[in-house]
Amino acid sequence: MKLLRRASEAVRFSDDVRRRGLSLGFVPTMGALHAGHLSLIRRARRENHRVAVSIFVNPLQFGPTEDYSRYPRPVSRDTALCRKAGADVLLLPEPAAMYPEGFGTHVEVEGVSDTLCGSFRPGHFRGVATVVLKLFNMMRPHRAYFGEKDYQQLTILRRMSRDLNVPIEIVGCPTVREADGLALSSRNAYLAPHERAWAPRLYQALSAGAAYARTHPGDAAGGLLKTVRAGIDTIPGARPDYVALVDAASLEPAKRLRGELRLLAAVRIGKTRLIDNIPVICKDKARSR
Ligand code: PAJ
Repeated sequence: MKLLRRASEAVRFSDDVRRRGLSLGFVPTMGALHAGHLSLIRRARRENHRVAVSIFVNPLQFGPTEDYSRYPRPVSRDTALCRKAGADVLLLPEPAAMYPEGFGTHVEVEGVSDTLCGSFRPGHFRGVATVVLKLFNMMRPHRAYFGEKDYQQLTILRRMSRDLNVPIEIVGCPTVREADGLALSSRNAYLAPHERAWAPRLYQALSAGAAYARTHPGDAAGGLLKTVRAGIDTIPGARPDYVALVDAASLEPAKRLRGELRLLAAVRIGKTRLIDNIPVICKDKARSR
């Protein structure tokens, strides 16, 4: 596996892959890799001739009070994991090269960025969309792989690609979980042992919501949300930022348990903010009878 540090090296690699008529899959990450990230790399490995991974802790997507400086950066461990998962190249850009003096161009994806996490993390998704478009322009892949774990991010990047005619297929990949249901996340390492023991209740609460939808097709969304909130309230000291049931494509709030929906929540447990989401596919009431 080759390490690339500069945009020009990435462009050269991509040009060479394309010249040979091969396909290139790309997995952008911020490192501290876990089985969730590795599932994306393995999927890219199965579906493409060549695979590129990037690790870049993107300052643009962290708020002033967020964890940019303490975000974990286990570089040699991550490098070994990428190699083992089958990456051909690992792009490790330098912050100063990504954002040189006078950098002033940003990607703002309106609408889908403004709700859910967007309301609690101003500027976060603008930072994500901007860095991902930059990384796309450096790596020039055919396909790019993102986790459903960050469902709003995935939706925003699909919208950006559509709106700006980005010639890259965005592939969404299912959330990888611990055996007890907790979605894998680099931030789980911040949880104290007792908080870690409570954390799976977030997924349990969302699952109870999805089960509610199966037994109440066509109902107003309020009953489902009440069930989920009650589940989250069993976590001592949990402070939900939001619990929301939305249309799976537009992220508009769902009024009724009808069609393809997504149930999402962000919860603070101690100093850690956890996010998770699951699909809610509602059967037509008439047909379910
Ligand atoms: P990061 O949090 O490192 O995640 C990189 C990719 O791994 C994202 O697409 C994310 O959705 C996916 N991922 C994380 N946990 C996962 C899990 N448990 N199961 C499946 N996939 C999972 O997301 C980012 O970095 C950044 O915002 C980035 C897109 C790299 C832009 O800076």
